[in-house]
Amino acid sequence: MQATIVQDDIKHYPVLLKEIVSVITPQHGGTFIDCTFGQGGYTKEILKYKNTKVLGLDRDIDSKKKAKQIENQFPDRFQFKNLRFSKLNNLKLKNENIKGIVFDLGYSFVQIKDPNKGLSFNSKGELNMMMGLNEFSADQVINKLEKHELEKILNYFGDESDAKIISKNIIKFRETKKINTQDLVSIIERSKRKKNFKVHIATKTFQALRIFVNKEISELIYGLINSAKILKKNGVLAVITFHSLEDKIVKYFFKNLSENKSVSRYEPKIEQKPLSFLMPQKKPITPSDQEIIKNQPSRSAKLRYVIKNNDSYEIETDIEKKFSNFLEIEKLGSKL
Ligand SMILES: C[S@@+](CC[C@H](N)C(=O)[O-])C[C@H]1O[C@@H](n2cnc3c(N)ncnc32)[C@H](O)[C@@H]1O
Repeated sequence: MQATIVQDDIKHYPVLLKEIVSVITPQHGGTFIDCTFGQGGYTKEILKYKNTKVLGLDRDIDSKKKAKQIENQFPDRFQFKNLRFSKLNNLKLKNENIKGIVFDLGYSFVQIKDPNKGLSFNSKGELNMMMGLNEFSADQVINKLEKHELEKILNYFGDESDAKIISKNIIKFRETKKINTQDLVSIIERSKRKKNFKVHIATKTFQALRIFVNKEISELIYGLINSAKILKKNGVLAVITFHSLEDKIVKYFFKNLSENKSVSRYEPKIEQKPLSFLMPQKKPITPSDQEIIKNQPSRSAKLRYVIKNNDSYEIETDIEKKFSNFLEIEKLGSKL
């Protein structure tokens, strides 16, 4: 589960904060986009440096209250938009000199704890899981989609090995009653063949549903593509992921932009184009032991980044093709 912010009443800890700053270097000034504003942890840190400006985005309207406080403090240097980051291209930023774009994916602790959002298997009542600006909820997914469709969602987005039996039992149960959060947890408990005592039995199914309801795969893919386009030369694109599917997408995209395609030595030599991005390190940056002790959910965080090598708005990538299976499954949502 992704929670970058741990709150003990008033304190919260944005994940890998020091590391993000060292990668995007706000000390040199410039305009930055915080695509996952949340509680404003990164934004506030960037604004500590003079000559910086931040545009914060978040799909959750609840972030607006925090954003308002920062807007009052920095009226000329900070702006907030309640927007999904896949829509970054709507903001007409093509001619702005953007120095850095950051993504801290997933959910904040505040969202996970919000009973109205129903993101957690500990929530009570109707299934929901919408982060904001959604088209359908988990309630519609579980109570309306067909068995083979549910199975695909659990399989692809949750890597749930018991997807088949869970989906079968969902269909059986809903003949008698509409399924709510607690019903879903007990269906999963009855369906799972092996129990793993380290993680909650419903973790994978809930992850799959959150990804599907919030269209997290297309959000990430188009968020990355649009960011890569609008950055200017030397601009940095930095992304923190929390689960393997997100990391796979980011890793592939960054490799795609920063490495030439390998050509067989038997094929005629073609001139390779200059690379549009540089990847200074292949290995992701991960939290220190001290950070993990202070903020347990940070343990699965991975920070990857690339630096733009030109001013072109055009980028070459086959990321949509590579993850087309996942994008196809997301389209099942259009039935709801
Ligand atoms: C892990 S939190 C970010 C915490 C933030 N870095 C901080 O320090 O306060 C992730 C935030 O991203 C937002 N988010 C997730 N997906 C989004 C999307 N596709 N578009 C815009 N915001 C998104 C969530 O609503 C949540 O507030």
